[in-house]
Amino acid sequence: MSDGRVKVTVGVCGGIAAYKSVELVRLLQDAGYDPHVVMTKAAEEFVRPLTFAAISGHKVITSLWGEEAGAVSDDDESSIEHGIEHIWEAQTTKLLIVAPATADMLAKFAHGLADDFLSTMFLATTAPVIVAPAMNVNMWEHPATRANVETLRGRGVKVIEPGSGYLACGMVGGGRLAEPPAIAAVVAETLTGVVAKGYVSLAENNAVPSAAMEPDFAGETVLVTAGGTREAIDPVRFIGNRSSGRMGYAVAEAAQRRGARVILVSAPTGLQEPPGVEVVQVVSADEMRSAVMKRLREATIVVMAAAVSDYRVRSVAAQKIKREAARAVILELEATEDILREVVAQRVVGTIVIGFAAETEDALANGRAKLAGKGVDAVVVNDVSVEGIGFDAEQNAGSFLTRGGAVELPVLSKAKMADRILDEVAKLRG
Ligand code: CTP
Repeated sequence: MSDGRVKVTVGVCGGIAAYKSVELVRLLQDAGYDPHVVMTKAAEEFVRPLTFAAISGHKVITSLWGEEAGAVSDDDESSIEHGIEHIWEAQTTKLLIVAPATADMLAKFAHGLADDFLSTMFLATTAPVIVAPAMNVNMWEHPATRANVETLRGRGVKVIEPGSGYLACGMVGGGRLAEPPAIAAVVAETLTGVVAKGYVSLAENNAVPSAAMEPDFAGETVLVTAGGTREAIDPVRFIGNRSSGRMGYAVAEAAQRRGARVILVSAPTGLQEPPGVEVVQVVSADEMRSAVMKRLREATIVVMAAAVSDYRVRSVAAQKIKREAARAVILELEATEDILREVVAQRVVGTIVIGFAAETEDALANGRAKLAGKGVDAVVVNDVSVEGIGFDAEQNAGSFLTRGGAVELPVLSKAKMADRILDEVAKLRG
């Protein structure tokens, strides 16, 4: 990183898709990053290290033991002894992207094997890791690979799902490496902290985001709710909903990136806690209410993106309800408190409160009714009946409703939507 560019390590594994990584390295270079390439032995069967060296301007690391190939220049500090080079690489890189990631490498990563440079570096780095798998469809769908991918996701590794189509092996199905512009966009978004954790939208993959945004939320404390609450039926069962939490997490991340102090009250999600954000984990609507009300006084902006259960089970069974116990089980439900209404009633003057409205019909009309009925400053309304948008989806679209009118929010990744929402909140503040 001697010239001030951000260092990104590109791991290339052995697969026919390795040739696409050449374009990836070029795109990262064009976007202003400083890509360094690590190749596995098998990758060298598909692309010569010299190709990557020529594009990146750095030697390509091909071995743990100092047999690097394709050296064209070595003007930075990496000319240290080979024995600890993986540690050096691991510590100095800002991000590790592995594309293509083979089934073998995913298995090594998942199980902590460290028998080559890339797998050793993976264990040694604390930088964010992204993998873009590519393999035969049966290998991709094999339970062993599925389990390894889930293990990695659970540990915070971002997975760029392979696409479907004709595979090099002649089969048709999932397993094609995502396109290099899509991978470069995810790298850029991860480095600028734009993307919601977990799955990543590849729809807007041609635009590589550039500089980070202005800290226009400096001085604000943003309280965000996210995820879907769970209401217990018995010790093992609950009533839940399909909210993934991605929209709320994206708002929390975006606000943090734009300079705010952020408190995220999160119902269960499969998402990684955003760095720099204070996360309060809750489960039920009642727990969410307590957490929100406890922190409300600190907030200057409240964004209620959580899907809160409107009902809870009146009497939760102390023991697991047995199948034999009855032919039919009738659950009596009682209403939960409307947290948003309570927030509006108890907010300090000047606190901006934004609600969300997930609707399956008459979205705008229902959104307007919620804007008026709940007394909030704005409602983000989306039609969750549209496939691929809103609930448990990577993208969102809708409208930002205020008493002054409606601003349309087009189909966007939830990360970009979060910024658009904050842009509108900033206008309200202005
Ligand atoms: N909300 C809340 N507490 C509840 C229910 C909802 O704070 N018990 C908040 C949500 O976080 C969201 C807004 O209220 O910001 C609207 O949620 P939604 O489920 O769309 O509306 P409801 O008020 O529950 O109305 P309905 O389900 O009848 O559409």
